[in-house]
Amino acid sequence: MKIIVCENYQEMSSRAAEIIADLVKAKPSCVLGLATGSTPVGMYRELIAKTAAGEISFRDVTTYNLDEYYPIAPTHEQSYRYFMNENLFSHIDIDPERTFVPNGLTENPEEEGAAYDAAIEAAGGIDLQVLGIGQNGHIAFNEPDEALIAGTHITALTEDTIDANSRFFASRDDVPTRAFTMGIGSIMKAKKIILLANGANKHAAIAQMLDDKITTACPATFLKAHADVYLICDTAAYNG
Ligand code: PGA
Repeated sequence: MKIIVCENYQEMSSRAAEIIADLVKAKPSCVLGLATGSTPVGMYRELIAKTAAGEISFRDVTTYNLDEYYPIAPTHEQSYRYFMNENLFSHIDIDPERTFVPNGLTENPEEEGAAYDAAIEAAGGIDLQVLGIGQNGHIAFNEPDEALIAGTHITALTEDTIDANSRFFASRDDVPTRAFTMGIGSIMKAKKIILLANGANKHAAIAQMLDDKITTACPATFLKAHADVYLICDTAAYNG
């Protein structure tokens, strides 16, 4: 794992946006794996600015998002589809038909999970996957557990993830308790991965990922088995 420690959130966001911009310039029809949460918002702002400045175009880019709450409607303000539209897609020149987020209303999770992974493969695979990390070491909604699932699937959220995400909802009771998420195998198939982390509240998870052996107790440790991963973090996440 290559590690880039940045002074602050802004620098982390700029470095990550530069990596994506370089890829989009080199391969205009690339496939991006995207993430939601507070962490990538600054990076998305940078990408919006680069698009507005004419530096890059998303016209031929395809995107697959990591996860979605379940059950939730795409129009719900806390859905990840809504988040992506608000924070990126509606501000860039991407074709909405080429943006994919797991269906938070699926009635056939097994079928749709397999179809999501097959669609990614048919698109040529993910060229670059953006990841955040949970305070508990989760990536996407692959929560610490005795075993992890390879493909896209429905999963239960842990209590600490529900606590962490309750800041976006009117009350803790409103947070969905399940999610539709890409699996560890889906993520590890990406050709390149950038993991972003900022803030002292991510230090324990980053330290555990870097120091521990590969363990399902900290799903992010699996990234150490991938050949092309960049950790881009700020000093607070790195040093505590
Ligand atoms: P955050 O979430 O970016 O809102 O901290 C990251 C995660 O839980 O994966």
